[in-house]
Amino acid sequence: TRTPVNVTVTGAAGQIGYALLFRIASGQLLGADVPVRLRLLEIPQAVKAAEGTAMELDDCAFPLLSGIDITDDAKTAFDGVNVALLVGARPRTKGMERGDLLEANGGIFKPQGEAINAGAADDVRVLVVGNPANTNALIAQRHAPDVPAERFTAMTRLDHNRALSQLAKKLGVSITDIKKMTIWGNHSATQYPDLFHAEVNGRVAAEAVDDQAWLENDFIPTVAKRGAAIIEARGASSAASAANAAIDHVYDWVNGTAEGDWVSMAVPSDGSYGVPEGLISSFPVTVEDGKYSIVQGLEIDEFSRGRIDASVAELVEERDAVQALGLI
Ligand code: NAI
Repeated sequence: TRTPVNVTVTGAAGQIGYALLFRIASGQLLGADVPVRLRLLEIPQAVKAAEGTAMELDDCAFPLLSGIDITDDAKTAFDGVNVALLVGARPRTKGMERGDLLEANGGIFKPQGEAINAGAADDVRVLVVGNPANTNALIAQRHAPDVPAERFTAMTRLDHNRALSQLAKKLGVSITDIKKMTIWGNHSATQYPDLFHAEVNGRVAAEAVDDQAWLENDFIPTVAKRGAAIIEARGASSAASAANAAIDHVYDWVNGTAEGDWVSMAVPSDGSYGVPEGLISSFPVTVEDGKYSIVQGLEIDEFSRGRIDASVAELVEERDAVQALGLI
């Protein structure tokens, strides 16, 4: 039998945690033959609720779940961790300025980065879901100097999946007819879902759509503002779809992407496509042997260039703001 993989989930008692933990324990995160040991990190006030979720996990009698530990201590939570899902974050509340938001999250992601640095397994992979995800990932990464920088990623897979779904609806095709979708930039309203490199049954998606007005005024804003639309409709933010995207992100990172396709991940830039080195920005990536590579050589036209630059400019501003606050 295989040694269990240590999976740590922060914010385990939250909405996304509830939608995520059962799928991890059932084998969907890593594969149907990989046993997992769950570590749940919560703030002290939410430990009891996490214990309740753990009781339900027990009651599922998942054959692959080899144990659950619950803690409010980051060092304990990340000791020996192989896969770290950083979901818990400080949400923006009314009247909160961006600086306050970044500072509050710095207080979470700095110690978590340090704890990962101190105790994580050599093969650790980190996915940051908690917003502002790209910049939270940057903060954690900067406080884990002994971990290879490329192990820190942030989630734009939900945006990627939203883009697939909107495009499939528009063209009346199935999701499997679409390949090479890309989200560029920040997981925020400035993100750029790109139809100029996506393919629908082998044809460039933007040409298949042949409607620049729809692309600019409908598709891009619908994908970028979908989170707000979900809150408006559901009275709560995306949870199951966010958990699903986290599963997709890690599964593909570990098990690889399909031949002739790619996925979107926010990863530390190596300078590709003019994105300043070190910024954690979304790119098209392929994965082979557990390692991702940014897809190279795509031609970027003027429209896409402008959109990518605008989102990357926002990431630069966020980085400069956390730098000014002494968080990195
Ligand atoms: P939630 O508020 O239901 O749960 C968050 C949980 O995190 C709470 O249980 C809280 O106690 C916990 N938490 C707070 N600080 C913590 C700390 N220092 N250590 C451990 N746990 C801590 O929120 P929900 O709906 O589960 O969302 C979580 C995050 O994911 C939010 O920041 C949200 O904006 C973000 N999100 C990101 C998406 C993406 O596409 N990247 C999509 C949807 C949500």
